[in-house]
Parts: sequence; C-alpha cells; structure tokens
Amino acid sequence: MGPHRDDPQLPRRPPDQDRSDVRQEGGRGERGVTRPRGGLVRQRAAASPPRASYPRVVTLRDLRPSDEAVALALWNRAAPYDPLTSDLYREKVWDEPHAVARLAAVVDGEIVGWTVAALWGAPNETRGTVKLIAVAPERRREGIGGTLLAEAEAHLTAAGAETVRIAECSPNYLVPGVDLRYTPGWLFVQKYGYTSVGEAVNMHVDLAAEDWATDERERQLLERGVVVRRAEPGDQGAVMAFLDEHWPAWKPEIAAAFRQSPVSLHLAWREGDLLGFSAYDANNVGTGWFGPMGTAEAARGLGIGGVLCRRCLRDLKAQGRTSATIPWVAPVGFYAHYAGAHVSRVFHRFEKRLA
Ligand SMILES: CC(C)(COP(=O)(O)OP(=O)(O)OC[C@H]1O[C@@H](n2cnc3c(N)ncnc32)[C@H](O)[C@@H]1OP(=O)(O)O)[C@@H](O)C(=O)NCCC(=O)NCCS
Repeated sequence: MGPHRDDPQLPRRPPDQDRSDVRQEGGRGERGVTRPRGGLVRQRAAASPPRASYPRVVTLRDLRPSDEAVALALWNRAAPYDPLTSDLYREKVWDEPHAVARLAAVVDGEIVGWTVAALWGAPNETRGTVKLIAVAPERRREGIGGTLLAEAEAHLTAAGAETVRIAECSPNYLVPGVDLRYTPGWLFVQKYGYTSVGEAVNMHVDLAAEDWATDERERQLLERGVVVRRAEPGDQGAVMAFLDEHWPAWKPEIAAAFRQSPVSLHLAWREGDLLGFSAYDANNVGTGWFGPMGTAEAARGLGIGGVLCRRCLRDLKAQGRTSATIPWVAPVGFYAHYAGAHVSRVFHRFEKRLA
C-alpha cells in the first residue's frame, strides 16, 4: 500500500512512481543501515548517526490553514536563503491562483514536510510547477521528499500538465528556480529525473546608494510629449488592455499592484496612449520586490524605462527599505545601468516531462 491521503479524489499514481517501499517498511534496517529503493544496502555515513526510530507510515494529506505555524517554522529551517513571513507564506501557499495540490507529509501525527504544486498562469499553459517543497532537516533522505514530489506530479498530470519545473512559475513565484546552495535540493531534483534547462538571475539594488531622482529625465521626456505618473485605480482598464496586447502573462501581478494603496505602479503616457509601466509589491509583498516592467517596442530607447524603474525604487526606499530585489531578470545591463543593480542570486531551472 502506498502513501494515502484524506482526499478520495486522489489521482492514481503511475506504477513507476509507487513509493510503497517508503510507506510500508520505512526502508530501514537496524543500526543505521538503509534499504533504499532497488534493494541495495547502504551504510549511513558516520556523520549522520542512526535514528532511534524510522517512519512506519508517511501519510499525505491536504495542507490546512491551521498548519501554518508548523509549516512555516519547518520551511524557515529547511530553506534559510528564502525565509517566509506569515504574510508571505499565505501569499505563496493560499493566494496561489493555480494551485492543484497543497500537501503535508505526516509521520506519527507530525508534519515533516510539505509542498505546493501549481499550473503556470499563462493562457493554454501545459507547464506545471512544484513551487515549494521542503522536508524537515532531521527527516531527510527517508523518501519523504520523493513521496511528496510524486504526489504533486500526479496531481499536475491529472490537471493537464505535460512538463513540470521546480519553483519556477508565473505569476506567484517565490524564486525562479533552484538555488544550488541548497545542495540536498539539487541532488534531490536530479535523483527524481529533472534536468537543467537554463538559469535565471535575481539582481540586488542598494536603495541607500542614491535618492532615485527622476526630475531632469522626466523634464526631457515631457519635451517629447511623454508624461510619467503613478497609476490610479481608474487606469486599470487601460493598463490591462495594454498588457493583453503586449504581456498577458503579467496581468495577475499588475492586478495585485492595483490592490496596493497607493497603487504600486507607474505609467508613461503620450497623447492618451500608454507607452510603458513599472510595478513593485506585485509579488512577494513586503520584501522590496520590483517588477514587472515593460515599454512598448515603438517607445523604447527614449529613457522611459529608466524613469519608470527609478520611480519604483524611490517608492521602495520611502517604505524604509535599504535594498530591492529585481527578480528573474532578462535585461541585466538595463538594470545595471539605471539602478546600479548587480546579480545577487543564480537559479537553475529544472524540468521533467510528465508521463
Ligand atoms: C529537497 C528536499 C525536499 C528532499 O527531501 P528528502 O525527504 O530528503 O527527499 P528524498 O528522501 O525523497 O530524496 C533525497 C535524495 O536527494 C539526494 N541527496 C540529498 N542529500 C544528499 C546528500 N547529502 N548526499 C547525496 N545525495 C543526497 C539523494 O539522491 C537522496 O536520495 P537517497 O537518500 O535515496 O540517496 C529536502 O532536502 C529539503 O527540504 N531541502 C531544502 C529545500 C529545498 O531545497 N527545496 C527544493 C529546491 S527549491
């Protein structure tokens, strides 16, 4: 018998993903000898002393709102480069618009790991993501992460996903891939059949470094008929139409910026036409998160993007922040130039084709 869940709608797991060895036997011999999948016997390293007891049953059940304190504390022990606050936990776990599974792994009545799996937000998307996954450090290498992963993948398959990535997703991501400093995480995704499909970088901005003034640049833009101002609630229709035309995948993040007060979005206009936008606090609210931003192709090269970007950084500084994150960057040179930003994190994007 494999791991079970409370949910009777649980999709059937393909046979090659059956983890009954983990569930039934605990896969463990005596005195630290491990019997992993495939029947090999492996001696535990001396650095990892034998545990007094090994899990008899790993039960998967839906994560519940009441699990928050335990799940949050577990995450913050497991993923020290990406600490979550209570607000961020809720944003990532419960405000995920395309979640297909929020699962807790329970051993002896205690949560020892959890995961959130979601489909990507772009229209007709057949990509899924295992957006968050963590196992308590003291319960690693018992197959718990693999059990959670297999179940998440089964849910994604049932929801129509053809491929799955780790962490990377749109619009509600925490990180755009795997930070290889999570060495067990890197080894884990390779073990379960994921391969690297490239990198993504985050950039860091030292907000204290300057005042982010834009007056002179805005005066020059005005001479060309371009007006830059903060968005107002009444702009939402025009902004969404602009995004429909240019970047539909960013609509949910910009909708989130419109929910902030004041609206965390700046816009550039000429003769009633929207030319560009730049947002902050549209994702990972409360962390100094910049973006997304975009200038219509026909309006590029005028300095609009630089002004829009600097206005957002000025607002983040006014919140009392000393640094900002520009996540998942493509135009590294643009942000280096206008914001003095430097690459601060490199993520590897891992993908697997689902059966
Ligand atoms: C990634 C994580 C969820 C794995 O959980 P887990 O319960 O240990 O997963 P499993 O037991 O199913 O698989 C672990 C596998 O990872 C690999 N691995 C992990 N640590 C390893 C190590 N120190 N040396 C060699 N291989 C290692 C092995 O392949 C191992 O399988 P094995 O024990 O059969 O050799 C857990 O390490 C974790 O919470 N990490 C922090 C968060 C994180 O990195 N998340 C994913 C990336 S964003």
